[in-house]
Amino acid sequence: MIGRETLARDLERARQRTLALTDFDDAELHRQYNPLMSPLVWDLAHIGQQEELWLLRDGDPHRPGMLPANVEGLYDAFVHSRASRVDLPLLSPEQSRAYCRSVRAAALDVLDTLPDRDDDAEIAFRFGLVISHENQHDETMLQALNLRSGAPILAPRAALPHGRPGVAGTSVQVPAGPFVLGVDAATEPLSLDNERPAHVVEVPAFRIGRVPVTNAEWRQFIDDGGYTQQRWWSVRGWEHRARADLSAPEFWNRDGTRTRFGHVEEIPGDEPVQHIGYFEAEAYAAWAGARLPTEVEWEKAATWDPGLGARRRYPWGSDEPSGRLANLGGEGLRPAPVGAYPDGASAYGAEQMLGDVWEWTTSPLRPWPGFTPMIYRQYSEPFFDGDFHVLRGGSWAVGADTLRPSFRNWDHPIRRQIFSGVRLAWDI
Ligand code: AVJ
Ligand code: FE
Repeated sequence: MIGRETLARDLERARQRTLALTDFDDAELHRQYNPLMSPLVWDLAHIGQQEELWLLRDGDPHRPGMLPANVEGLYDAFVHSRASRVDLPLLSPEQSRAYCRSVRAAALDVLDTLPDRDDDAEIAFRFGLVISHENQHDETMLQALNLRSGAPILAPRAALPHGRPGVAGTSVQVPAGPFVLGVDAATEPLSLDNERPAHVVEVPAFRIGRVPVTNAEWRQFIDDGGYTQQRWWSVRGWEHRARADLSAPEFWNRDGTRTRFGHVEEIPGDEPVQHIGYFEAEAYAAWAGARLPTEVEWEKAATWDPGLGARRRYPWGSDEPSGRLANLGGEGLRPAPVGAYPDGASAYGAEQMLGDVWEWTTSPLRPWPGFTPMIYRQYSEPFFDGDFHVLRGGSWAVGADTLRPSFRNWDHPIRRQIFSGVRLAWDI
């Protein structure tokens, strides 16, 4: 069982992030930075609405809540597209904050009853779900803020460790053999439905990048005509490249700088490349004489301990993530240079598997065999047959409390505003 104190701490941490990312004036919170993103004030009240639904109303939207039904309906992500949310009669920032506070006070009362309940594992799971949901929206708000035009309103709040020379472009070997893919409630009680159940799979031998592909390596791809030579691209990728006029990662400027959160800066060569879509990742891999990993390969490289014949909880072992092991939590506002976390290496020697950048995999989002939907049925299931690729490992913007090596993210292959990068793989 996850303790009440841990859940209360993680709820509070998520809320501090949310409040810091929405600590701007009303006009700012109502701005639509980009049609791909919601105005921040939408995310704010939506966070409260989901918390109320899963923790206070047993997941039943017909149970009366704190908001009138027509207002609550504004925060249904399936009804209102991101592009349209700016035109809705949303709650004001002050109303949204007050709503989130009321929900949280009631949720903490529920948490107080936790150890006395016979359904405590399910209730703890729901708290984990709500904590994960809020953290995921915090990352979404960071994506929005990165797209914002105007003078910067966010700055890094933590320094990141230095990288190590000589690790970029190197790889590690993962020998053939079975491993346990996915997790169960018994070992990961807060894991979400799409990470379950654990099951044994055979994986042929492969090599995988020790670290993600860097900006300097990506620059070579550009300089070598990577974006102008069709031979590296899939048919769909090449069509998209032309239509979207892609010639570099998003946010790279023509003068060799990049813009992040309104800051214009030199592009650090040793930092993992960010803001690339799946099609670009695929083209880069072909150019480099490699391929992208499957998500199964990725998870094996991140979690399997061949000596023990068992999964590790994290790539490095069982210690909780910390600033020594991975770049998570958003405070650094960027990925760390490659080689910055030697202590975070997996059993096979792969580094920076968690944090820094989400890594595109070839895998479409599909359920594991034996999938059972969780109470929040619409979290995973509606996306299983869509045009999505799985991304693994989390980014620098992911809340450290909610990331597991089994965590699966997904997005359309053309998306680039996400904190996405790539790690190469090779057949042996
Ligand atoms: C898992 C990140 C793809 O943002 O669409 C937030 C997370 N689901 N609210 C998304 C989510 C419902 C989801 N991703
Ligand atoms: Fe949501």
